[in-house]
Amino acid sequence: MTEKVVTTDDLGSGTDAEPVDLLSKELAADLHAGYARLRERSPVLTASVMGGPPMCLVTRYSDVRSVLVDPRFRSDPASVPDGQDVRGAIMSTLNIPDDLVDYLAQNILSTDGADHTRLRRLVARGFTARRVARLRSRIEEITARLLDELAATGADGGPVDLVEGLCYPLPITVICELVGIPVEDRPGWQQRGRTLSSMNPDGLSTALREVVEHVHELIARRRAAPADDMITELIQAQEDDGDRLSDREMVTMVIALVIAGHDTTAQLLASSVQALLEHPGQLAPLIEHSGGWTEAVQELMRMRGPVFGQVRYPTTDVEVGGTVLRAGKPVMPGLLCANTDPREFDRADELDLRREIGPVERHLTFGKGAHYCLGAPLVTDELEIALRALFTRFPRLSLAEPGVEREMRPGSSRIVGLSVHLPE
Ligand code: HEM
Repeated sequence: MTEKVVTTDDLGSGTDAEPVDLLSKELAADLHAGYARLRERSPVLTASVMGGPPMCLVTRYSDVRSVLVDPRFRSDPASVPDGQDVRGAIMSTLNIPDDLVDYLAQNILSTDGADHTRLRRLVARGFTARRVARLRSRIEEITARLLDELAATGADGGPVDLVEGLCYPLPITVICELVGIPVEDRPGWQQRGRTLSSMNPDGLSTALREVVEHVHELIARRRAAPADDMITELIQAQEDDGDRLSDREMVTMVIALVIAGHDTTAQLLASSVQALLEHPGQLAPLIEHSGGWTEAVQELMRMRGPVFGQVRYPTTDVEVGGTVLRAGKPVMPGLLCANTDPREFDRADELDLRREIGPVERHLTFGKGAHYCLGAPLVTDELEIALRALFTRFPRLSLAEPGVEREMRPGSSRIVGLSVHLPE
């Protein structure tokens, strides 16, 4: 008997006929159960996001991982014959003026090969061990200040919103520190960062223009008066042979950092607080012994990752999980589906804060391979410092009304409100 060769020629045959709607209420109702249903339905399904072209969604850990490390899967659709540009299609729905599109679309995440290596080496210069270590003490100070402010707001016993008071202000302040946005210029960055990360057309172009102009102006200032920050580092790199970086690319890099690192970290933090409150029996020993946070943080990242997946484009036909993915057709490795795959993790759907999941990169929350998240060590520090400080200072922290408010985003959900009481 000839084995049927399943291809994605006409997306639908072979994979599942009905594309998965990554914004569906069914998925939102219970994400982990939803991911399990997708994994068990098929290793490759079709899915759509925000009206973009249908993609092949890869659902199982070993397949997701192999797509991420396979150089035949590219990030830039233009580098692939007949690449169907998903990001471009989504961008075109956002009504961004022509002169601004490249600042959003042409960033490190959508480059490959030599261009990607050049940009990655440059931005990595900004994440030196010394700078990350210095940031660690700044994260502690910023967290302590935000907790003081929250304590003052909640002093009358009324509820406070951790999303507004901690989860968003912490990561944006840290990114401003990292990049070198001066303190006096920071008002407005939180809102702009949020608007940029939301990919919602409302206000997006205005926020983008403001950020573009501001960073161009900052580059000019740093050229005249260098400081100890990432912008100065990038300016110095501009002069290095072989590492030429245009001002446009530099501004794009800063915007990419704000987008990559702001909403993601805020959501991970909010979702981690919620997970800890839902598992008081596992939280209590962490508070009591003030140890064990390192493993706990890795497990929270595995279970509560905020990024559902990233788009890739095969340069040639590639078989994955028994399906031939056609050259040029967009593919989404489902990071969050993979993270709870029982083929890879024991009791995969259970949050076990003492789980030793092995090397940091075993879960796929930060991707894998050439584009592995450059901010991962920073996020790990932020999460550990913020959670430990929050629960050490407020060990009796509890949910208040209206509790956790969520809204759906493609393949996962975002927390828009987290009301708590903060008895000291
Ligand atoms: C790349 C997740 C925070 C900077 C990525 C990728 C993922 C990811 C999945 C890989 C994308 C791909 O394969 O196409 C996350 C999550 C975060 C987070 C879940 C927080 C919870 C940050 C922060 C920064 C950052 C705080 C920096 C301040 C970057 C950069 C890249 C990246 C520059 C591009 C790397 C490349 O293309 O070579 N991130 N990220 N991320 N992330 Fe993060």
